[in-house]
Amino acid sequence: MAERKGKVTVVGAGFYGSTTAQRLAEYDIFDTVVLTDIVEGKPEGLALDMNQSRPIEGFETKVVGQTTTPDGGGYQAIAGSDIVVITAGLPRKPGMSRMDLIETNAKIVRGVAENVAQHAPDAVVIVVSNPLDEMTALTQLASGFPKNRVIGQAGMLDTARFTYFVAETLAVPVGSVRTLTLGSHGDTMVPVPSRCTVDGRPLTELLPADTIDELVTRTRNGGAEVVALLKTGSAYYAPSAAAARMAKAVAEDSGAVLPVCAWVDGEYGISGVYLGVEAEIGRQGVRRVVEADLTDTEKAGLLEAAEAVRAKQADVQHL
Ligand SMILES: NC(=O)c1ccc[n+]([C@@H]2O[C@H](COP(=O)([O-])OP(=O)(O)OC[C@H]3O[C@@H](n4cnc5c(N)ncnc54)[C@H](O)[C@@H]3O)[C@@H](O)[C@H]2O)c1
Repeated sequence: MAERKGKVTVVGAGFYGSTTAQRLAEYDIFDTVVLTDIVEGKPEGLALDMNQSRPIEGFETKVVGQTTTPDGGGYQAIAGSDIVVITAGLPRKPGMSRMDLIETNAKIVRGVAENVAQHAPDAVVIVVSNPLDEMTALTQLASGFPKNRVIGQAGMLDTARFTYFVAETLAVPVGSVRTLTLGSHGDTMVPVPSRCTVDGRPLTELLPADTIDELVTRTRNGGAEVVALLKTGSAYYAPSAAAARMAKAVAEDSGAVLPVCAWVDGEYGISGVYLGVEAEIGRQGVRRVVEADLTDTEKAGLLEAAEAVRAKQADVQHL
């Protein structure tokens, strides 16, 4: 077992935040996981519960719970964090789009980002609050952090959903399937069938075009499908797996190329916007955006997504 080191904070101890904290602690690579929330006692209670699972699961990472206030009370607990995952904010209810959350969550995320900047000024920030692309842009603005140190989580989740649907349709192990989604975490998500393979064989040779289209549509609506079944709250097992893996890639300075929401500055001919792309992830966040070979249709979809989120990211500055 490698040495445990570093501190990672998860802001927001709801379903997404608490499962992310649990996954991060169970990796057993961090010295400390801090979990915070504005609901008094909730993060402390969850942390106590997680620490009591340590003898059973066999991990030594300490979990610290800390109630915070919107004006920064309690934020001393996050000092020295290498990574901060922001999950604070409302989730969707059935029938809502992610964009319906923008005003409420912008206020929450702006305040959190300011407090994080003050108390953990060297952290890499991973944003998950929705609407994702806009909240990532807002976090960068409100924190003043370099753009490479603010990343959003969406592509890993959307890609995992696409992979699962393909594996289920073909009755093959999920591990044999590679898929990719780019663009926004919303209506202009861009699944990339040309980059999808099963045991190295192109997906387009294994499934008819209309079946791939159906899987693409199901992927695009993947979050809403879970919300409709749950009726209260949104997905968190797959989302927390995605955010935790991103944090692990940062902590280990791994150089893994992951689909994330990153600042795009010239790649694909697109500039000045946070967008879902593949990026190499390391200790400083995004090392570089990696351009995939796309078909003309996929590239057009990515350009459309960029313009859609650019407009919304401009609006969010005023919220
Ligand atoms: N990016 C993605 O792929 C993805 C996937 C699923 C959910 N989400 C989003 O993640 C967010 C959290 O989802 P959830 O299921 O955990 O919701 P939840 O309601 O279970 O938890 C949200 C938590 O945030 C806390 N909170 C609110 N304001 C806060 C503040 N100022 N500081 C600290 N904590 C604060 C709340 O008290 C609550 O405990 C939502 O916005 C949801 O839409 C994103």
